[in-house]
Amino acid sequence: MGYDMGKPVKKVRFRVFRYDPEKDDRPHYSEYTLEAWKGMSVLDALNEIKAEQDPTLSWRQSCRMGVCGSCAMVINGKPALACQTQVLKLDTDVITIEPLKSFPVIKDLTPDLQNLFRHHTHVKPYIIRRNEEELTEENPTEEFLQSPEELEAFLQFSYCIKCGACVSACPVSQSDPEFYGPQALAQAFRYISDTRDEGEEIRYAIVDNPQGCWRCHFAQSCTFVCPKGVDPAMAIQYLKRDLVLMSVGMKKEKKRAQKAPLGAPTDRVPEKYVPPEFTIAKPE
Ligand code: FES
Repeated sequence: MGYDMGKPVKKVRFRVFRYDPEKDDRPHYSEYTLEAWKGMSVLDALNEIKAEQDPTLSWRQSCRMGVCGSCAMVINGKPALACQTQVLKLDTDVITIEPLKSFPVIKDLTPDLQNLFRHHTHVKPYIIRRNEEELTEENPTEEFLQSPEELEAFLQFSYCIKCGACVSACPVSQSDPEFYGPQALAQAFRYISDTRDEGEEIRYAIVDNPQGCWRCHFAQSCTFVCPKGVDPAMAIQYLKRDLVLMSVGMKKEKKRAQKAPLGAPTDRVPEKYVPPEFTIAKPE
């Protein structure tokens, strides 16, 4: 199988972390040299190595377009998506590829992400409504209305693709697997900020914990590495702020999304609609 996608630009050496816990006493690095072409991603390079040099190499991938989050790995010391990292833009002759930190290794570049999803599910990452009947209604007659400002309050946090890069970069998560971590805490804040959600008391009680938001030292490395422009460090500080305000009785009551009959015309969208400046990943 050929991966000749363009004119070779230069030779690049790849130092790839190898470890099979069932066979190896300790990790080691394998080296492979490739002709890098314009547009070649680190994921392309791994596929080329596997197809033409070493079929035993393992990692996880799916969408190849920065959506599924499965190809996150540490590239030259920084957690990133392999499919979104251009080999030539790294501007180096040697690229070191390692598995995400903070997680056990299943094999080579494949981390065991069970802890990520354990913490993620612990914060109840879904809309909670008090009225159970509303959730099970077969033919709903009403819908929620949210203003652009209400959407903006949580939108950037909803871009999380659960790749684990933020947890890999977090110095606290690296030393304490019981810390809920930036991914889960940002998702707690994402749902708390959503005016459709009524589960904020449940989630504040979950994150108000020595392993919750108070364990964050505000290193901000989570925010620096997020490939989708999410700012978990800010979300965690907002959680701390809310808890402090609640403890002194100064937290304002949460605004609730209005409901309207399904499909009813609404006057909430102004004639001249100016979308708010959402926080999104900036192009390089
Ligand atoms: Fe899906 Fe890279 S393969 S994000």
